[in-house]
Amino acid sequence: MKLNLKIWRQKDAKSKGQMITYPLNGVDGDMSFLEMLDILNEDLVNKGEEPVEFDHDCREGICGTCSLQINGEPHGPDRLVTTCQLHMRKFNDGDTIIIEPFRAKAFPVIKDLVVDRSSFDRIQQAGGFISVNTSGNTVDANAIPIEKHVADKAMDAATCIGCGACVAACKNASAMLFTSAKVSQFALLPQGQVEAADRVQHMVRQMDLEGFGNCTNTGACEVECPKGISLENIARMNREYLSANIKG
Ligand code: SF4
Ligand code: FES
Repeated sequence: MKLNLKIWRQKDAKSKGQMITYPLNGVDGDMSFLEMLDILNEDLVNKGEEPVEFDHDCREGICGTCSLQINGEPHGPDRLVTTCQLHMRKFNDGDTIIIEPFRAKAFPVIKDLVVDRSSFDRIQQAGGFISVNTSGNTVDANAIPIEKHVADKAMDAATCIGCGACVAACKNASAMLFTSAKVSQFALLPQGQVEAADRVQHMVRQMDLEGFGNCTNTGACEVECPKGISLENIARMNREYLSANIKG
């Protein structure tokens, strides 16, 4: 395939960015999107030009680092896959592909397609954990019976990889889907209920402090989420938040 890539280039956080066009030949349908970018970068390096910076790590859909806005959609046109799992067979010979960083005030651009998502880390640190005494007298988690459908819901919420596609998809740049997945994975289980009220209050406060927008129920986050995280989690977080505030 021969492609026409229009890629956002930005030297650093303070510089102004712009779209640059790169024609690319020899792209195979079996390549992943990131392998296609590797080929472009090899060409650029061979020509003595700066390669395009983009985030990636596992390339297996696990780590959540490969954040790219492709033709206006986070992680591109496929559903339930991350950018690293998107294959070039989803595109046609002669296509123009527009590649941008995730856009949100709380995700400032570091360079080219790389954004700073440490705001997610700070939300997680505000309460996305349980405090367990591990000094030797810990109760085996499996000793507490949990109904299968509850365990399944908690597991589904725990599959959030923190990629930020939900924020990039949302017209309000809301982080409600991410935060609610992190709240839900604990709120659903007895082990998470001890600190449930503090958790939801602290995580929502941090989410607001980071400058994410509000949820207006458009549902774009759920559509673009590579892990199929359900809007149901946002409803659960809202209930948890209301109940925590009523209890004081
Ligand atoms: S909720 Fe989905 S889109 Fe948002 S960070 Fe988690 S995995 Fe990514
Ligand atoms: S590189 Fe890890 S999810 Fe894509």
